[in-house]
Amino acid sequence: MGMLIRSNHFTLAVCILCLGVWCCGQADSEVAPMEKAEQTALYSAIQGFVGNWWNGSDLYPDPCGWTPIQGVSCDIVGGLWYVTALSIGPVHDNSLGCAPNVEFRQQLFQLKHLKSLSFFNCFISPGRHRITIPGGKLEKLAGSLELLEFRANPGLIGQVPTSFGYLTRLQSLVLLENGLTGELPINIGNLSNLNRLVLAGNRFTGQIPDSVGSLKELLILDLSRNSLSGHMPFALGGLTSLLKLDLSNNQLKGKLLGEIAYLKNLTLLDLRNNRFSGGLTQSIVEMHSLEELVLSSNPLGGDLMSLEWQSLQNLVILDLSNVGLTGDIPESLCGLKRLRFLGLSGNNLTGDLPSKLASLPSLRALYLNGNNLTGVLKFSEEFYGKMGRRFGAWNNPNLCYPVGLMTATNAPYGVKPCQGGGTLLEPNSRAKLGDGNLNQNSHFIASSGFSSYGIHGLCWFFLVDTLITVLLLNLFVGPI
Ligand SMILES: *[C@@H]1O[C@H](CO)[C@@H](O)[C@H](O)[C@H]1NC(C)=O
Ligand SMILES: *[C@@H]1O[C@H](CO)[C@@H](O)[C@H](O)[C@H]1NC(C)=O
Ligand SMILES: *[C@@H]1O[C@H](CO)[C@@H](O)[C@H](O)[C@H]1NC(C)=O
Ligand SMILES: *[C@@H]1O[C@H](CO)[C@@H](O)[C@H](O)[C@H]1NC(C)=O
Ligand SMILES: *[C@@H]1O[C@H](CO)[C@@H](O)[C@H](O)[C@H]1NC(C)=O
Repeated sequence: MGMLIRSNHFTLAVCILCLGVWCCGQADSEVAPMEKAEQTALYSAIQGFVGNWWNGSDLYPDPCGWTPIQGVSCDIVGGLWYVTALSIGPVHDNSLGCAPNVEFRQQLFQLKHLKSLSFFNCFISPGRHRITIPGGKLEKLAGSLELLEFRANPGLIGQVPTSFGYLTRLQSLVLLENGLTGELPINIGNLSNLNRLVLAGNRFTGQIPDSVGSLKELLILDLSRNSLSGHMPFALGGLTSLLKLDLSNNQLKGKLLGEIAYLKNLTLLDLRNNRFSGGLTQSIVEMHSLEELVLSSNPLGGDLMSLEWQSLQNLVILDLSNVGLTGDIPESLCGLKRLRFLGLSGNNLTGDLPSKLASLPSLRALYLNGNNLTGVLKFSEEFYGKMGRRFGAWNNPNLCYPVGLMTATNAPYGVKPCQGGGTLLEPNSRAKLGDGNLNQNSHFIASSGFSSYGIHGLCWFFLVDTLITVLLLNLFVGPI
């Protein structure tokens, strides 16, 4: 050791003398060589994924030094280089793609300091070459593995191995858009250091296990786009650190959980496209950090009036379309100063529209189409001009706009002008309007082309969603 330090000093002195980058590079690899076994294990593991044509020792004689391999990171442990991160698949332009006959070689599990292992678009031929997660072998990496990701691997099938329960150092487990099936393993609750659990876009079935409630460090829980059924487990209310909860596009049912009120740091709650019922609960407006609340396409029922919406001061996106709401639109929605997207389409809302909605300072999209709103739209011409097709009020047969007040270009799409040139309608003339030709006309337009603007609105919404997700991932999990 003394020799090594002394020689270290010596090379440092030489370095200073010659001031050469080349010289320093040489000194580095002298100081920290790579264990031969580690090096051959790395070559063989990668070859198993990219194919036998790939000759690591030839192409990358010093993989942790001056011939780095795209997707491989190293660190010095006890004076030797070890591989700490391995990322397989076409992530960058110059990274290696996977072979059709991709395999997990034994040598992968000999990389004893591997902290991060990720596969992107690697197991891709579901028809011919199907592969399962080698749970028992991954267990060998339990002492070091902190991040495990399989993204976009349709050829990766089978269940989540129960042996995942041993990977207790994991902070991030991402199994996104693969062909995985079966129930979520109960012992996932053993992974108590997880701060990100993403199992979205597979074909998981069964209930969400109560054991997820043990994952007290979780910041992101995304189980969306599976076939999960049953209720939201009460234990979810115990995940008080949670920032993002996405259970959308499953077959979950039952009342919205009262316990979600404990999720005071939650910024995103997405439950769209499930079978939740029983109306909106008070717990919804008690999650004071919420920025995005998406409950669309659930048979929820109930009304908007009973909740104090103004307590969600951070709300940016509120999507309650197609949830069977009845009753009026409350003025308390007009207290949401940061709201950009308000979707209330496809409900059974009635009554007059609060004209204060137009003064929401951040509002960029307002969809009210497909309800039974009545009376005269009292927004300014400027408002319609600003919103354009992102103001949706069509398919409200008893709604009209005061024609005298605006030019034809700014008139709200699919809404008919009030009879009498802008004066308020008498209640008994509304029914007449509802039977008119204009009404049929607007139905025709709405169904033939107009709904596509609704889709544009949604696209925008998805974009924002994705951006926020990316931001969150970078902020709270960070590159490991
Ligand atoms: C890689 O190439 C070297 C010589 O260039 C050869 O000795 C070695 O057997 C090759 N390894 C593999 C795995 O093909
Ligand atoms: C959970 O992790 C512990 C190690 O911390 C292990 O002993 C136990 O067997 C694991 N349980 C399951 C169900 O995997
Ligand atoms: C919620 O966020 C605040 C501020 O970021 C933080 O101090 C607090 O610890 C978080 N609460 C939980 C339960 O993680
Ligand atoms: C609205 O209510 C009517 C009558 O109660 C019902 O027939 C209709 O299906 C409802 N529409 C929606 C979208 O819930
Ligand atoms: C819409 O509301 C009017 C009363 O304002 C009512 O007569 C009509 O049946 C309602 N239409 C639907 C589809 O619920």
